[in-house]
Amino acid sequence: MEDREISPSEEEAARSPKPRLDRRSFLKLSSISGAAAVLAACAAQPPAPTAVPPTAAPQAPAPTAAPAPSPVVVTETVEVPLISEVLPYPRIKVATLNDLQSGAFGASYPDQFSPIQILKIGKKVPGGVGPDGDIVAYSGLCTHMGCPMTYDPATKIFVCPCHYSHFDAAADAMLISGPATQHLPRIVLEVEGQDIYAVGAQGLIYGRPHNLSLTEL
Ligand code: FES
Repeated sequence: MEDREISPSEEEAARSPKPRLDRRSFLKLSSISGAAAVLAACAAQPPAPTAVPPTAAPQAPAPTAAPAPSPVVVTETVEVPLISEVLPYPRIKVATLNDLQSGAFGASYPDQFSPIQILKIGKKVPGGVGPDGDIVAYSGLCTHMGCPMTYDPATKIFVCPCHYSHFDAAADAMLISGPATQHLPRIVLEVEGQDIYAVGAQGLIYGRPHNLSLTEL
C-alpha cells in the first residue's frame, strides 16, 4: 500500500480532542429520546376499538288474538226433576194392609234393584194413606252412598250401617244425623181395598240413572 502525505488540516483534526457532553446536555438529550420512545410506542398501539352503536332491542311479537271459542251446540236437553217432584214410575202392587201388622214390610219399587220399606206409623203423617192416613213408604237405600238401611219399628228410625246416617220415618224420612244430605225419597202410595200400590217416587232414588228421565225406568 502506498504511503500518502497527510495534510496539515487532517493533522489538526486528528490532534484535537473529541467533543464531550456536559451533564445538562446529557439529561436534555435523554429526555428527548425518552419522549420519542414513548411517542413511538404510542404510535405502535393498535387503534382503540370504536364504540359499537347500540342496536335496538328485539321487539316482542305482537300478541295475536285468541281464537274465538267455538259456540256450544246443544243437541239434546235433559230435564232434571226437582227433589219435590213426583217421578211417575209404573203403578205396581207392593203390599196388602195385612202385611203391615208388624209396622213394616219390605218390598221393592220400581224394580228389584230398589228396596223400599212400607210402614204403618200408627198416627197420621204427611203423605200417609190408608184408613188412618198413617201408611207411608220410603226408599230403603241411603241417600249418602246407597247402602241398604235397616228400619226399627219401635223408634221409627232408619239407620244406615255404612256411615250411620239416621232418618226419621215419622217426619217424612227427614235426615236426623250422619253424612247424608237429603232425606229419603218417598214412595207415593195408593190404597185400593186391601191392596197397596206404588205409583211414583218423590225424590231421587240412589243409583238410578233413569231418575233423570221421566219416560224410562
Ligand atoms: S251410605 Fe249411608 S251414611 Fe253413608
